[in-house]
Parts: sequence; C-alpha cells; structure tokens
Amino acid sequence: MTAATSIRPEMPEDAAAIFDLTQTAFASMPYSDGTEGPIVEGLRRDGDLLLSLVMEQDKQIIGHIAFSPVTFADSPEATGWCALGPVSIAPDHQGKGLGRTLIETGLDQMRAKTCPGIVLIGAPDLYGRFGFSADCGLTYQGLDGKYVQALNLVEATAMPRGEIHFAAAFNLA
Ligand SMILES: CC(C)(COP(=O)(O)OP(=O)(O)OC[C@H]1O[C@@H](n2cnc3c(N)ncnc32)[C@H](O)[C@@H]1OP(=O)(O)O)[C@@H](O)C(=O)NCCC(=O)NCCS
Repeated sequence: MTAATSIRPEMPEDAAAIFDLTQTAFASMPYSDGTEGPIVEGLRRDGDLLLSLVMEQDKQIIGHIAFSPVTFADSPEATGWCALGPVSIAPDHQGKGLGRTLIETGLDQMRAKTCPGIVLIGAPDLYGRFGFSADCGLTYQGLDGKYVQALNLVEATAMPRGEIHFAAAFNLA
C-alpha cells in the first residue's frame, strides 16, 4: 500500500461514491448482474452494514468492502457469523495488492468485533488465499459448492451447516 492510501469506516457522504465504485468495479465481471451497488445501498438502508470500509487515495475512494449478518438453516446456534461482500477495487487500481490489504483489514476488524466466522460466495482461487475453504458443507441456492466458502475467525468455532441465509438486500441478486 502506498503512503497516500488509507482505510476508514464509511461516512454518510461516501454513499454515492461507494455506489459508483461498486458498479464500475463489477461492470466487466462475467458473474455480475449489476446488482452489487444496489445491494450495498440495500444493506445500508436496512441497517445490515455491520462493517463498511472505504480505501482512499488522494482523497478519492478507490476501494470498498462490506460485511453483513447471516444465519444458517441447519445451525441456529451459529450466531454472529457474517458475510463478506461486495468488495471492490477501482479498475485502474486493481492488481496492486490493494484488494488484499482491504480484505485482510476487514477480516482483522471483524475478528476484533468477535465475529466467529465469515461466509461468502466467490471465486475459490481468490478467497482461498485468505484462508477460506470451499466445499465447506454450506449451501446456497443450489450453487456449485466450490463457490460457497467459509472461514473460522475464532479457533475451535464449529463450522455451521446447511443453507446460508444472507441479509434481505441480497435478494436483489
Ligand atoms: C477482486 C478484487 C477486489 C481484488 O482486488 P485487487 O486489488 O485487484 O487484488 P490484489 O492485487 O490485492 O490481489 C490479491 C490476491 O488475489 C489475487 N486475485 C486478484 N483478483 C483475483 C481474481 N479475480 N481471481 C483470483 N485471484 C485474484 C491476486 O493474484 C493476489 O494474489 P497474491 O496476493 O497471492 O499474489 C478486485 O479485482 C475487484 O474489485 N474486482 C471486481 C469486483 C469483484 O470481482 N469483486 C469480488 C467478487 S467475488
């Protein structure tokens, strides 16, 4: 990360820039249906943005990551787990290690909040680098298990089972 790059919680006046960044970052992704920006807005509206971090460089928002609550159909005892995503780095800034810094910072902050674990739907070759396991026994809408991933943040936390229920804003997808 360059000296001019910093990470901080979102502020109310960041909402439009976060929306634009998210839409731009996902625009050329084959797996995107263009709902990622509205999902972030929906999470914020519903009070489900448990952690929303922006990365700034030269006073421009060039990165964003969101965490929101999840529950599990077959593991009602697994409380406090969260979903990671959407996560975005502006296209001009991708491939320089900034996404890694943003994701690691987000995971560290969720661990500090005593979140027991994180789930996500995403590319296994990307999130495996951060310790996420695919084919972890969780399911989501019949998706291939290699995209359904989980990470224990607290040692000895049992892995939840069954269908993941994401926050309502994800129903836009
Ligand atoms: C995914 C994204 C956040 C990564 O940010 P980035 O700054 O480009 O990533 P980094 O340069 O920090 O790379 C982090 C690591 O992930 C790898 N990586 C980056 N993008 C990847 C991808 N799409 N698939 C697999 N691996 C990827 C890098 O090779 C790097 O690995 P290394 O640290 O072991 O060398 C960014 O590319 C992005 O915003 N993409 C569009 C939106 C998106 O797809 N979000 C994720 C949806 S699941």
